[in-house]
Amino acid sequence: MSERGSMHYEIRPGIVVKTENAAKPESQSSALLRSLLADLPHVSASVDFGCGKLRYCDAVLDKTDILAIVDSEIQLSRMQILKGTTSTIRETVSRSNRIQVYNDLEFTKLNGDFDRAFCINVLSAIPFISKRRQIMKVIRSHLRPNGTCLYVVQYRNSDFHRMRSMPNARSWRDGFLIDSLRGFSFYGLISPDSLISMARKAGFAICQVRRNEGSVYVWASRR
Ligand SMILES: C[S@@+](CC[C@H](N)C(=O)[O-])C[C@H]1O[C@@H](n2cnc3c(N)ncnc32)[C@H](O)[C@@H]1O
Repeated sequence: MSERGSMHYEIRPGIVVKTENAAKPESQSSALLRSLLADLPHVSASVDFGCGKLRYCDAVLDKTDILAIVDSEIQLSRMQILKGTTSTIRETVSRSNRIQVYNDLEFTKLNGDFDRAFCINVLSAIPFISKRRQIMKVIRSHLRPNGTCLYVVQYRNSDFHRMRSMPNARSWRDGFLIDSLRGFSFYGLISPDSLISMARKAGFAICQVRRNEGSVYVWASRR
């Protein structure tokens, strides 16, 4: 195993998973997650860990004074289409004085004290279990006592079934790799039980678990 810079995970020589390619645009957001976010009480400080293409950024920002967004530097600095405009994430959010941007290394070093964290479809994009554990611990260490994190992973869907049987797919650990023109993608199928057990091992107490259409939503408290 080797983790290259910018969230490129080298599974073996020549097989590198570039997780930044996994992020979906705002137009492909989950209705259930949007309604869940809209019902949250307002807090002072939140963090969206693995923010991707800012899919849930506006919805999270509506319920917090300050929002920290975290991703790899490549995801934050590369030109991409965001809400129909070609720009970078750093440039797009620089217009808001309520959003702070950190790459993963900057965030690890930050003395944060967040009320609430989000880690949405991030763990399942990471092929190494040790790295998933490390992320959960970093998030927990940045929460205030009784601060909470919402973990979401998709562990079952009909697309996965179809993709898994494609000729360019191969099994890897708890998921599968797809070899495409843009390089390798990884889809980890983390079951609700294993997500809960990982969160407990990272020191969280589980507050609420909800399953919907092959995704699991786990609210975990720092304690
Ligand atoms: C599938 S995308 C999800 C993005 C966003 N949360 C969403 O739901 O639209 C996974 C994201 O995790 C990021 N990521 C992967 N490993 C990471 C790490 N160690 N630290 C921070 N972000 C990471 C990737 O760059 C990518 O943007």
